[in-house]
Amino acid sequence: MRQTKPSPKKSSPEEEKIKIGVIGTGYVGLVTAVCLAELGHQVIGTDVVREKIDLALAGKPHIYEPGLEELLKKNLKKGHLNFYHDLDKTIREADVLFVCVSTPQLPDGRADMSYVEGVSRRIAENLNAYKLIVEKSTVPVRTSAWIKRVINLYRHNDQDFDVASNPEFLREGSAVHDFLHPDRIIIGVESKRAEKILRKIYARFTEKLLVTNIDTAELIKHASNSFLAMKISFINLISELCEKTEADVELVARGMGLDPRIGPQFLRAGLGYGGSCFPKDVRALIHIGEEMGVDFGLLKEVDRINLRRIRIFVDKIKQALWILRDKKIALLGLSFKPETDDIRNAPSIAIIGELQKERAYLRLYDPQAMENMKKLFPEKEPELVYCQSPYQALEGANAGLIITEWPEFVDLDLNRVKSIMSNPILIDGRNIFDPAKVRALGFEYYSMGRK
Ligand code: UDX
Ligand code: UDX
Repeated sequence: MRQTKPSPKKSSPEEEKIKIGVIGTGYVGLVTAVCLAELGHQVIGTDVVREKIDLALAGKPHIYEPGLEELLKKNLKKGHLNFYHDLDKTIREADVLFVCVSTPQLPDGRADMSYVEGVSRRIAENLNAYKLIVEKSTVPVRTSAWIKRVINLYRHNDQDFDVASNPEFLREGSAVHDFLHPDRIIIGVESKRAEKILRKIYARFTEKLLVTNIDTAELIKHASNSFLAMKISFINLISELCEKTEADVELVARGMGLDPRIGPQFLRAGLGYGGSCFPKDVRALIHIGEEMGVDFGLLKEVDRINLRRIRIFVDKIKQALWILRDKKIALLGLSFKPETDDIRNAPSIAIIGELQKERAYLRLYDPQAMENMKKLFPEKEPELVYCQSPYQALEGANAGLIITEWPEFVDLDLNRVKSIMSNPILIDGRNIFDPAKVRALGFEYYSMGRK
């Protein structure tokens, strides 16, 4: 399907300084744009949401991500980085286009590929020279073949182009660090030209590169995320068993993790996985399997175990307070994990929903995510109140819930907490406290998978 006619206008990106366009400057795209500029490349970011571009141009990320603002400002100043409101102009000026638009979950669990399709059409319409189109968004295996077909259907000329896959493995909260210190860079290509360009872009990390075909690269991303989700659901299932026995899930995880074949990471039992990737990617892989005749019952169970975590947690609150109606409950932590303002698929959302059904009075606090949560659950006195500090949330509360393990909750002055709560009851969804120590201070304490 690839055409071979070289561009008459521009010199090739293999030889010149590469100009990169990043389409979609959300959590992934903005970090990608800023960090590619930090690697010394010339980068233009663009997004359909005007405010995101206006903020980026002003040196202010629209998201909270440690280290991002500093590098954004630095690279704007150096002239390595720019942002356009105009997608067509971005496409026309760039040699390499990183596609970072959303691939959200549809009601039936499949990934919604309409934004990737829309961007592919715009690329086709603006194909003024050779372009390398790099899929960065998480996409189902075989997506590159669709992108190529769309470009071939809608282009007005026979300009050459390539599609490649370069899945992102950034963890929110440490995304900048992850980008600049990668454990691997997966490059899925089907031409030497595309490989050469991507090798040049990632020249600083040559020893971290794994070059594969495109289907393999696409699958590595879904397989990695599903495997990590499976690890979390596995330990959460073990934690259910711990609660029926005298076993302690933290120690079970530590003992398992000492085996290098298992490893200690992603064995933290708690409220389960949230975020924009794991829940969506597990379901997407189940669907890909169904479409291709491969039964991913294993992952259906991973999803079921994860959903059960909320019920198990809410049952603990009921076990402590019996009737929740009119009880004042403090929720500490709203983001799906610490060091981010992201609330997508955060356990807090389901927990708030359950507690609202029971007509409890909710006092919410999070260091970064309250503005996002207000859009979903607007403040309504006295039923749902956002607080300025964890202590304000806990003041007069009948129970305090730990929902996200922000460091400032680990460092709470528990003597002070005890003195301000109506009932010193803590229900810890992330096992941040030592049960013996908290109980010695006079708290009634519940946690996940331990007595
Ligand atoms: C997104 C995908 O959802 C995820 O599956 C993938 O792995 C990486 O990209 P994320 O960056 O976290 O993740 O999503 P989001 O913050 O929503 O960013 C997507 C951006 O694309 C948004 O800023 C959105 O405005 C923009 N967008 C979306 C476009 O610019 N054009 C579109 O047509 C659609
Ligand atoms: C994940 C992948 O790690 C990253 O490689 C990919 O690019 C995007 O998806 P992210 O969602 O940002 O990153 O966060 P991560 O640290 O992986 O945590 C995901 C979820 O799992 C969080 O809700 C976290 O609380 C939960 N988790 C993680 C556990 O419940 N237990 C653990 O032991 C680890």
